Amino acid sequence: MANLVVALDYPDASAAVQMARALQGTGAWVKVGLELFTKEGPAVVCAMRELGLPVMLDLKFYDIPNTVHGCVRSACSLGVNLLTLHIQGGERMIRAAVAGADEAVAAGCCRPLLFGVTVLTSMGPGEQPGIEEDLSVFAAQLAGKGAAWGLDGVVCSGHEVQAIKRVCPQLRCLTPGIRPAEGKQTDDQRRTMTPEQAVAAGSDFLVVGRPITKAVNPAEAARSILHAMDTALVEGAV
Ligand code: C5P
Repeated sequence: MANLVVALDYPDASAAVQMARALQGTGAWVKVGLELFTKEGPAVVCAMRELGLPVMLDLKFYDIPNTVHGCVRSACSLGVNLLTLHIQGGERMIRAAVAGADEAVAAGCCRPLLFGVTVLTSMGPGEQPGIEEDLSVFAAQLAGKGAAWGLDGVVCSGHEVQAIKRVCPQLRCLTPGIRPAEGKQTDDQRRTMTPEQAVAAGSDFLVVGRPITKAVNPAEAARSILHAMDTALVEGAV
């Protein structure tokens, strides 16, 4: 059963907490990203945890191994359930991140899932600097490396999930770029999918921002996406 993660891309905590309250009881996770965390810091993560919502901390760490090691340890101390980092940071950086999480667990923290970003879903063909090949092929190659280096999952487009799961069936996939109805507004996303398509492809976490946060009734929009996810058939399942 896939999880829905609602991206709280807000400029301050009051709007984010209001949205989080509306989502209580739906079963959705919340995602604290760069915009919100840069303004409000760890307090906003604690506020989400106090509301009982599982938190994905989406800061996409990408730095030298020593710095990422410390970032991951600090993130673990906030009690987040999932955090992100760029696989393009390389093997030493990823292994340092895993070691940071292990150290935090030894110090009494809960271990969050570590997810590596492959290629941003806002990138279209030819837009990833230095990459001439098909973005899906590149994303699958990065995912394989992330799995070998100890990651629990990857952030990828829904279009890449099947190829990634064929090579690394144990790797969990988290897919942003979800848009409830095909042909509708995609905003700045390029490689989009409907919730039904993403679940059918085998995605484990669906990240949805604006289609929920800009809806007239966000809780209803979240419930409707959760319903679509529930009724979607995972390809290959009976
Ligand atoms: O509003 P929308 O549904 O496009 O929001 C998608 C969220 O997922 C944003 O918070 C964005 O930062 C995040 N994200 C993404 N693509 C990635 C990783 C994260 O769109 N590869």
